[in-house]
Amino acid sequence: FSLKNYNTFGIDVMAKKFISVTTVQQLKTVLQENNDVFLLGGGSNMLLTQNIDATVVHLNLNGVIVNNQTENTVEVTASAGENWHEFVLWCIDQNYGGLENLSLIPGNVGTCPIQNIGAYGFEVKDTITSLEALNKKTLKIETFTNAECEFGYRNSIFKNKAKDQYAIISVTFKLTTKNHNTNTSYGAIQEELKNISNPSLKDISNAVIAIRNSKLPNPKEIGNSGSFFKNPVIDITLFNKLKNQYPEIPSYPVSETLVKVPAGWLIEKAGFKGKRFGAAGVHSKQALVLVNYGDATGKEVYEIAKKIQRKIKTEFEIPLEIEVNVF
Ligand code: EPU
Repeated sequence: FSLKNYNTFGIDVMAKKFISVTTVQQLKTVLQENNDVFLLGGGSNMLLTQNIDATVVHLNLNGVIVNNQTENTVEVTASAGENWHEFVLWCIDQNYGGLENLSLIPGNVGTCPIQNIGAYGFEVKDTITSLEALNKKTLKIETFTNAECEFGYRNSIFKNKAKDQYAIISVTFKLTTKNHNTNTSYGAIQEELKNISNPSLKDISNAVIAIRNSKLPNPKEIGNSGSFFKNPVIDITLFNKLKNQYPEIPSYPVSETLVKVPAGWLIEKAGFKGKRFGAAGVHSKQALVLVNYGDATGKEVYEIAKKIQRKIKTEFEIPLEIEVNVF
């Protein structure tokens, strides 16, 4: 079974067996009957470099439930298989605030907590109250509170201690129904909204969509997984040294001793932006995004990633960490 249409990089690898599940009971049965299982959500944050010699289980659980309405807030529980962007748009239609900055991010609800998706000054951890996950061994459903998810920058317990041990089945978000806590501080958003005095959730979402469309490739047209690397956090001593050499280097303070620098800038500076290597390459409008122009293999994409890592290490003394999951 080809997984080409099930990963946003559009990599054509084969799965030994493929099952799409729509209920938790089906998921339990599949886990009971197969001991080697590979869980697949939206396939938006992975690079497949080889065929999968296991049963690929597509988590296609659907449904959205609204509960715990207070005067200003509402709790919404969405099943793992709901498409992320459609869910965000649905929330905006209900006038539920909190997710608008995360518009147009590829993937499904069930995978958003794993790498704590974030964009334009917002991370999904800011709205998640809890989630339910099926323990692959015990087949019991466990609840994780926000704190128990151990969220960090593009990180959570599901990329660390709990890696590969759970199938996330639903996520609960606390959203606002009035006095929305919007965040339009990001430069590009301000620019998009400059003629709108009181932007609505929809206006902010539209601004985010416009910005993303202007620099990020649409995975339906050009295969990709969004940012391929994390933005590195470096020591201020190294930063000051780089700043001497490259006065224009962009940066965001993290603490008194640490500074975050955009990986996209480093990769562009190293000369990779828009470079093509066979059927894969570095996106021409955002150097942090690796792309598949058609029939690239996962290995080809991974080779480019390693080439970039080596160059950034020698040129800037910075180790770049890969953000997508490489299999
Ligand atoms: N830059 C360049 N050249 C490039 C790309 C970026 O010089 O080719 C520099 C520019 O100075 C720019 C700065 O990097 O101002 C930041 O670029 P951008 O606003 O595009 O954001 P990013 O740091 O590259 C991060 C997230 C994105 C998220 C944006 C917006 C990570 C790994 N990536 O990218 O998330 O959409 O901020 O908030 O933190 C994703 O994770 O898949 C993703 C797309």
